[in-house]
Amino acid sequence: MSTALSPSDILSEQFEALVQWHDSEAGLAGREYLFRMQGAAHTLSVTRIKYKIDPATGGHLPCTTLQRNETAICNIATSTPIQAGQTLSLLDEGLGRTLASVELKHILRRAENLHTQALSVQRHHREQLNGHPGCVLWFTGLSGSGKSTLANALEQSLHEQGWHTYILDGDNIRQGLNKDLGFTDADRVENIRRIAEVAKLMVDAGLVVMTAFISPFRKERDMARELIGSDRFLEVYVDTPLEVCEARDVKGLYKKARQGLIPNMTGINSPYEPPEQPGLILSGASETLDGAVQSLMDWLSIKSNQLTPQEAPR
Ligand code: ADX
Repeated sequence: MSTALSPSDILSEQFEALVQWHDSEAGLAGREYLFRMQGAAHTLSVTRIKYKIDPATGGHLPCTTLQRNETAICNIATSTPIQAGQTLSLLDEGLGRTLASVELKHILRRAENLHTQALSVQRHHREQLNGHPGCVLWFTGLSGSGKSTLANALEQSLHEQGWHTYILDGDNIRQGLNKDLGFTDADRVENIRRIAEVAKLMVDAGLVVMTAFISPFRKERDMARELIGSDRFLEVYVDTPLEVCEARDVKGLYKKARQGLIPNMTGINSPYEPPEQPGLILSGASETLDGAVQSLMDWLSIKSNQLTPQEAPR
């Protein structure tokens, strides 16, 4: 005898949800938030904030971030399949805070119709052909700290030695793939989310990827490491003091920001969260370019020995 499944029996990873935001720090689309189910930790991200609900009239209001005491209808994605109808609590366990409650209203049909396609040529095949592993060197630091200069010098050395490489650079990507994004916190989160996904694809293609983005928030850098896998990811903190970046001011942006012409300039009126435990710290003020490139090459040659191309794909 077969029993028909009721909608609540079906598991999904994508839902429309009613989100009640409790925390003083705004909720941002694209950021990953922790929740627990039967004791186990999982993550959830808002993929789209559709509208917030006017408490007085019940009407729909446009909204781009989730502010304290606001209720909004959002599309969300979870890291594990779950049933609709549940209410999840989003937690910041480090700070001991409940950020939001999320009532899973209904499954998004788009999620039901996707199936992972098995492909024959896989990362380890490409790595075998290339003779080196795919990985990411994630440069982070203020504008003008030297991320692009370092990535460029490293790529030149690698290229000369026959490595397969690519640089994803903030100023360039923002003129193409991410030209719809500005410099609000929400847009920076989305900028880095997309770059992490692109870098992941490039690692799958077998490349050594260098990303040169301010990437000011720890949460998104941690997300990128998690997505790509910590064994193939090096967070490189280009630690150049704001005074030095500002004195260089190659693009004239700091001067404009001090004149009040740029509202969200990192380091001036938009935050930068330095890495707590970066894989490598390079001093953009005192280190020589050759010395810095050598440190990066050393990491790559260790990785190359650790991650042999014969390794089974993850
Ligand atoms: S991120 O914060 O989202 O990671 P990203 O690295 O893509 O930033 O872009 C930073 C570059 O954009 C800077 O190097 C600078 O040239 C330019 N820029 C323009 N406006 C700003 C701003 N408000 N804050 C920082 N950088 C800006």
